[in-house]
Amino acid sequence: MLGSPAIMENGDTPTLGSLDSEAHIWLTGPVSPEAAEDHLPLLVAEEVEQYERFLVDRPRYLYLAARALARSVLSIYAPDVDPAAWRFRFNEHGRPEIDGPADQPPLRFNLSHTDGLVACMVTLEMDTGVDVEWTERGIDLVGVAGHSFSELEASEVRQRRGRERRDRFFRYWTLKEAYIKARGMGLALPLRRFSYTFPDPGVVNIEFDPEVGDHEPDWQFALYQPAPEHYLSAAIRRGDRADLRIVVRRSTALAREAVEVDPPRLVASPPSSATTARAT
Ligand SMILES: CC(C)(COP(=O)(O)OP(=O)(O)OC[C@H]1O[C@@H](n2cnc3c(N)ncnc32)[C@H](O)[C@@H]1OP(=O)(O)O)[C@@H](O)C(=O)NCCC(=O)NCCS
Repeated sequence: MLGSPAIMENGDTPTLGSLDSEAHIWLTGPVSPEAAEDHLPLLVAEEVEQYERFLVDRPRYLYLAARALARSVLSIYAPDVDPAAWRFRFNEHGRPEIDGPADQPPLRFNLSHTDGLVACMVTLEMDTGVDVEWTERGIDLVGVAGHSFSELEASEVRQRRGRERRDRFFRYWTLKEAYIKARGMGLALPLRRFSYTFPDPGVVNIEFDPEVGDHEPDWQFALYQPAPEHYLSAAIRRGDRADLRIVVRRSTALAREAVEVDPPRLVASPPSSATTARAT
């Protein structure tokens, strides 16, 4: 079962070459229990064991969708590799990276899953992180912001009420998660030591405290609303390159029946200096 090109119902067929100037986000939903048998052959033994260890259906079928999607999507860019043949290694904080087969292009990916949605983001070489959240979840918005967000972010959440508070909270939450996932450090990175601002409508900036040891202009961020109750944030360390075009597709968990979609983009980084230089 070698990887086959995604059958696009609209838009361009994704290729490895397009990742020179693009980052790709693939979205899918949970696998249905009836379809599980079609997806399990893609997983390696440890993944099947993990799948079987789930006591609750919802995370089990999200896990299956995420693993099947990552394997199927990676094989689109490396069609000689069977989706079941990808091997992964994990850093000390659990971030998966490709570990084989040998001699493959330097693909990077990151996965996220939440109620009703799975995302897999793919770049060439660049650090990347993606986070999706179901924004209707019951959560103490002010309490979590107070202990996990910067002082400025927490106060922006506290000042708002109702939908506006929830919107602001999940903007920060998904953007912060996307960044720590791109760094691969999980909660070992101090969440309160970097801060997002929205200086103008549609624009997001990040500021790092010195202890984070990072450089703001290296990063490109975007936040989308792929469904009324879902937020999705992407973080890419593009360095001094021009901004990447972020292409979002919806497909099955086997990366079939792909459709390019154009979800509302709530905020994005201002253009990088390389992008503005190219435009002039
Ligand atoms: C584990 C963590 C990286 C993401 O957790 P999450 O938001 O619950 O989960 P997501 O669905 O977005 O991502 C999970 C996937 O990310 C990948 N992942 C795991 N560890 C990772 C790491 N250190 N870095 C990047 N990606 C990682 C895996 O593919 C994982 O999939 P799997 O669970 O099926 O193996 C980490 O950020 C965490 O524990 N967050 C807790 C949430 C929190 O308290 N946030 C504070 C408010 S911002």
